[in-house]
This record gives sequence, C-alpha cells and structure tokens, in this order.
Amino acid sequence: MSDPHAGTLELYAMPGNEARADALAARLGLRRSGLWLHRFPDGESLVRVQPPGKAVAVVCTLRDPDALTLPLLMAAATLRELGAAQVGLVAPYLAYMRQDRAFEPGQAVSARIYAALLSGHFDWLLTVDPHLHRIDSLDRVYSLRSRVVHAAAAIARWVAGEIAQPLLIGPDAESRQWVAEVARRVGAPMLVLDKQRRGDLEVSSRLPDLRPWAGRTPVLLDDIASSGRTLAVVLESLRGRSMAPAACVVTHGLFALDALDLLRAAGAARIACTDSVEPPPGVECIPLDADLAQALGDMSACAKETRS
Ligand code: R5P
Repeated sequence: MSDPHAGTLELYAMPGNEARADALAARLGLRRSGLWLHRFPDGESLVRVQPPGKAVAVVCTLRDPDALTLPLLMAAATLRELGAAQVGLVAPYLAYMRQDRAFEPGQAVSARIYAALLSGHFDWLLTVDPHLHRIDSLDRVYSLRSRVVHAAAAIARWVAGEIAQPLLIGPDAESRQWVAEVARRVGAPMLVLDKQRRGDLEVSSRLPDLRPWAGRTPVLLDDIASSGRTLAVVLESLRGRSMAPAACVVTHGLFALDALDLLRAAGAARIACTDSVEPPPGVECIPLDADLAQALGDMSACAKETRS
C-alpha cells in the first residue's frame, strides 16, 4: 500500500511540543515522526529520531533556550545526516531577541550569535512576532528563510470579545508596534508609557492623567511577560485611578519566577497570552494554531518547490 504522506513535510517534536506538533499535523494532514531525548545522569543528552524523509520540520518553542538548544541542534544535524534535504524549525517563541546590541562594553550580542547557531542548522524558521526592536527584520541576523506569524489579529479578537470599553496600554516604547496594531483592529484608544529598567527585577514607569479615559478597562499589552515586572509596575500605578480592574495580555507568556503571583497581587483581574508558549493554569489562552498551520502549509509548499 502506498504511503499517503510520502513526499510531504514530516514533523518532529522536541519534548513538550508533541501536542502542538500533533495539532499542526492534524490540520495539514502531515505525519509526526518520533524524536526521543535521553538525558544522561551527568547532564549530557542523546537525541534519537525516526528515519526522515526529504523535508522535515522540528517543532520546538524556545522557552528555556539554554537547556533546549543543544539537543535541538543535534536533532537537526541528525535529521540531515540521515537524509533530510530541508530541515525547518517551527519555534512559536524565538528566544534571545532582546539582547540585540551590546548595552555595556564586552557584552555578547546574543540575538546575532543565537541567529548564527540556528541558521547554521536549519533551512527555514517559522515563528510568532519575534522581539524586533533595534533589529527591524529577522533577515538582518538570520541567514535562513524565515516567516513571521503576527498575533495582533488573534489578540484583537480576544480583546474585542472579552473586554468592554478597553483602553490599550503599552508599557514601553518597544510595545508601540504591537499595541498600535491591536488598537487599530479593535478601534480602541491607546497610550504608550516610558519605562526605565535598572535591572532584571527593577523597573519603573509613570502613568499620565487617565481622566480622559474614565470608565474604560485598562488592557496592558506587551509582546513578552518574563519576570512580570514591566506589567506589574503599571498595574501598581493604576491603583486609585478609578478605572475598571485591569487585564494583562501578552503574546509570549514566559511568566518566570513569581511573575503570575506578582501580577495578580498588583491587581490584574485577567491575564491572557497566546499559546506560543503553553499558558500556565489560570492564564487565558489565545490560540494561534490556525495561523501557524496556514503559515506552515505555505513553508511546506515552498520547501517542496525548492526540492523539485
Ligand atoms: C522588553 O523589551 C519586552 O518588550 C518586555 O517588556 C520585557 O521583556 C518584559 O520583561 P519583564 O516581564 O521581565 O519585565
């Protein structure tokens, strides 16, 4: 009997990404093949993969990148050694985009170094809204083919459906690009604050007079919540401003350390993020499966053309 998947893209999932890979495979009629990771007691990893076809993609969102990247590169290299001609990466959250320059003498420009590592092992990359700030396009640092899925439409649908009379608040200058797009789609007012960061956990910002927006619900919107401090300081300064209880919405919910407890204690009535990283319990999910599947379908068709 002929294999119905012959010649199509095969998906491999790094541990923890199986559900996402299965969902994408189901939407696109692709096969998911086996990838296993063994950790030796001394911390080294052994990757094993089911023999690949010609075109493959590894699904691996890059939260906790230091632990994931070495096994990921080994998986890509092994797939290539075993005959894959095109090896793609589906990384809904792309790590190491914020350190896009040396802020102090001697600092690594991690965005560029990490891009070189991934570009050396993958032919293409599919990701969701990478943190592009001083670097305005992935092509400036990645030498592979890349495609970006934008979360603004999904986030705007969530805000429009869930929040009455929103006032969108971007906590820092970098967030303007995402906030402006969601505000345009929702037809809501927006403002962008000035943020000062003095350390990983030390952030300050100041809110303007909010009386012109009395009666609206503040929706704090950012691309990443990591330590949660950026959003928490804004929540703190909303206290006593006679606004409705605030919501926090982010594209990539990393929620490191005590971020979620902190946001709730600071007054977040609702917290939502996309599933670029699986939302932790109690955080509302804005699914991106359909958008990712559509983009992956295009990448897969493109890889097929390159091979034929
Ligand atoms: C910064 O440039 C990003 O857009 C986020 O504002 C930042 O990564 C959030 O970090 P944290 O949650 O640790 O304050």
